Amino acid sequence: MTPKATAPPAKRPAVTLSKLAEKRALGEPIVMVTAYDYPGAQVAEEAGVDLVLVGDSGAMTVLGYPSTVPVTLEELLMLAAAVRRGLSTPLLVGDMPFGSYEASNEEAIHNAQRFVKEAGCDAVKLERGGTSAERARAIVAAGIPVMAHVGLTPQTATALGGYRSQGRTAERALDVVRDAVALQEAGCFAIVFEAIPSALTETIMPRMRIPVIGIGAGPAADGQVLVLHDLLGIYDGHAARFVKRYANVREAMVKGVAAFASEVRARRYPGPEHGYTMAPDELERLQELVHEQSGEPFTGGFTL
Ligand code: KIV
Repeated sequence: MTPKATAPPAKRPAVTLSKLAEKRALGEPIVMVTAYDYPGAQVAEEAGVDLVLVGDSGAMTVLGYPSTVPVTLEELLMLAAAVRRGLSTPLLVGDMPFGSYEASNEEAIHNAQRFVKEAGCDAVKLERGGTSAERARAIVAAGIPVMAHVGLTPQTATALGGYRSQGRTAERALDVVRDAVALQEAGCFAIVFEAIPSALTETIMPRMRIPVIGIGAGPAADGQVLVLHDLLGIYDGHAARFVKRYANVREAMVKGVAAFASEVRARRYPGPEHGYTMAPDELERLQELVHEQSGEPFTGGFTL
């Protein structure tokens, strides 16, 4: 065998739960993005993020539902399996959809296992405190790491009064503190704080021993997450105030497709460089064969 002239790029070690805990202890910010398909996973891999969440936000960003509520377990499992195929380094978290974990510990464990067995996820995420802390404890006891999610929990946005920031009065803020601590006590390895005042995050942080990933929760969290289609400017729905656009991919996609359409209509695409050639003697023989079979002279367009 001839040795390769250049060595392949060094592979990063896979991100583990202990690596995340270590990052938190060292004060190194943790980066999480969502992904819903194979190319999105490859982008996250190449960009070097720590965690990838197959979020139920995919209900809106890639499946076109009006909220995260209608997405099914089967749909998220299919998206998660595609992400798994494009990902090797970041920790992969599957988001348990609304209705897949609330009814009982047994159902929650069974459905969490599906994310691990069928889609290859490393962990699952569920929303809210209250009974969700009990479900999280049961899933963790069954051997599956759980990420929690408090503050604005989109699956129950109606009960929270809509898609609005949470914990803005002292009493509601105390509810968020209690939920976060209960989920930590239940054994969750990390927790998402969504759309809460930065000062509330600062108040909770000294009580947390697990990584806190913020989204609209200010800079005090141990890490930050954004929805891939928001940060890349692919999704054109309403963007929350915490969304920062780092690219305008949707505009580039529309431009690309429009350019293709215009070249096809102007007969500028395909050019000679996009076609396949045939040796002249083969073409001549083809004409003879066609003539033999049809009894008519070859004209270029024919049906045999
Ligand atoms: O579904 C999702 O994308 C999420 C993130 C916002 C954390 O839950």
